[in-house]
Amino acid sequence: MTQYQPSSQARRFSVLKFGSSVLRNADDYARVAHEIYRHTRTGEKVVAVVSALDGETDALFAMGDQVGQGSSDRVLARLVRCGELKSAALMGLALERSGVPVAVLDPHEMDLVASGDPLDANLSGLNREKVLARFDQADVIVAPGFFGEDENGPITLGRGGTDLTAVMFAHWLGADRARLIKDVDGVYSDDPAKNPDAHRFDALDYEAARKVSHGLVQDKAISRAKALDVVVEVASLGKAYATRIAAQVEKPAAARVERPLRVAVLGHGAVGAGLCQHLLAHPNRFQLSPILVRNPAKHSPDADPRLHFTQDPAEALRDDTDIVVEALGGTGFARSLSQSALRDGRHLVTANKAVIALDLALLSGLARENGLDLRYSAAVGGGTPILEHLDELAPKNDVLAVEGVMNGTCNFILDALDRGELFADAVAEAQRLGFAEADPSTDLDGDDAADKLAIICHHAFGIMPDVRDISRESLSDLSPERIAAAREAGLVFKQVGRCVADNTGGVDARVELRALPQSHPFAALRNEANGFLIHRPQGLTYIKGKGAGRWPTAEAMFADLMDVQRRHARSASPGKTTTTRQKTASQDHRMPRESAL
Ligand code: HSE
Repeated sequence: MTQYQPSSQARRFSVLKFGSSVLRNADDYARVAHEIYRHTRTGEKVVAVVSALDGETDALFAMGDQVGQGSSDRVLARLVRCGELKSAALMGLALERSGVPVAVLDPHEMDLVASGDPLDANLSGLNREKVLARFDQADVIVAPGFFGEDENGPITLGRGGTDLTAVMFAHWLGADRARLIKDVDGVYSDDPAKNPDAHRFDALDYEAARKVSHGLVQDKAISRAKALDVVVEVASLGKAYATRIAAQVEKPAAARVERPLRVAVLGHGAVGAGLCQHLLAHPNRFQLSPILVRNPAKHSPDADPRLHFTQDPAEALRDDTDIVVEALGGTGFARSLSQSALRDGRHLVTANKAVIALDLALLSGLARENGLDLRYSAAVGGGTPILEHLDELAPKNDVLAVEGVMNGTCNFILDALDRGELFADAVAEAQRLGFAEADPSTDLDGDDAADKLAIICHHAFGIMPDVRDISRESLSDLSPERIAAAREAGLVFKQVGRCVADNTGGVDARVELRALPQSHPFAALRNEANGFLIHRPQGLTYIKGKGAGRWPTAEAMFADLMDVQRRHARSASPGKTTTTRQKTASQDHRMPRESAL
């Protein structure tokens, strides 16, 4: 049987730890999901180690004391680790919502061995192979921090012990560092909340870090990191920089001042509304202008009261707009607004595959001439980072062909038909769930997949075919009898887009309905899932995720926005706004992006 390598960079790991200071309430799991997605979309596999929600461990200790009056540390440990178990499950749910393939594992499922005092133990072993095997299906493994197992059950690692869990995972998995995400953007000479003269460090050695961190990083974790030569980073959510703790010389950091960027969101449908929620959750980074919609009265009653709506483009696209987010869809108004956004000096983030398929050369040229960012990750694959994978592989001439299930609506409907449901019911359900285009015939007839395939060709081979030249089969051509016959033969229908470069400098691209055997990876794609096989000289790379719907698509758009924010939000001095109209690094046809750090 063909071996499908789940990801091209399957063994590039990040260990990220999220402490209680960034998990203050249930809403914070979405923010943390953004941070994790930032890494997975560059092809990294992530171990996300989580603490309990803020205050939960204290509450559990207090409850344990109340009920048991401290009678048994071992049973108390069993109680207080529950905060981390709950937090790991919540993290898994938030990642699933965003369409990120995730596995949540309890310590005993990874043979995470601890030894010592039940309330102040150390970690002594991990079944590395068991963990690595889970990465065949998942991009993220969520592990509860703070405890492991000895022969008599769970024991905890002392307060702040999730830092130690992260350090040990980085050591056992051979990750290049453990990145501890806190509510401060690094280690300071003093508490920056109390001392305005406190300065941040870019780099510290282990002993200096222990002296100045005042418990910001668990002492035991620093000691183990030093002994095992694990690099530790302390960073905050969404930042590209960190304090690096390693065997090195101390380095104070230059002062950084960031200003919020003004965002004009065009459209408030399934995706636009999801994105606005993410923007509202980051007021220090983004200020939202009134959202451009056709009928403000329709959106206002149900929307968050902080959102304002307008049908006046001039009000939505204020003069001080930094970024335009196009979530209107279609190729009429959306097309002209995308061009004018870049002409007027705004960065453009869009999910509109039809506009990108038509105008990528024009829009890229405008972005390049004006020193602006053009981002459209969500246009293909929803939250599945296929374009990012291709951008990494294509410069190495590493792509021979790409095949993919790239329309979530068609996959959802084919799945329903395979279960014997009615076509019209399946279409209506896809519309209700927000997967389908405004006109679902765009999905059913293969037009949406053809647009996406054209963009894929561009990223895989540097060739943008005319979408009209991409042949396509429509779901309407598929009779219930054909589906039933396929099922009888053990086959399942999928809509598959495929492109391969020919040796005349052209590309053969088509959207087909294919009856596939159950052993084919696309056969396992359920509902709105997307999956892509990249044919490479070394074999096949398979990536999958959720290809449509509010949260996966909003996740990809928000990741694009955060990339733009990290590139452009720095002011030269407090209160002074600069940089967004400056020339930036030149863009080729691919999407420039920083590494996730
Ligand atoms: N209608 C599209 C789909 C939305 O179903 O895949 C995501 O591009």
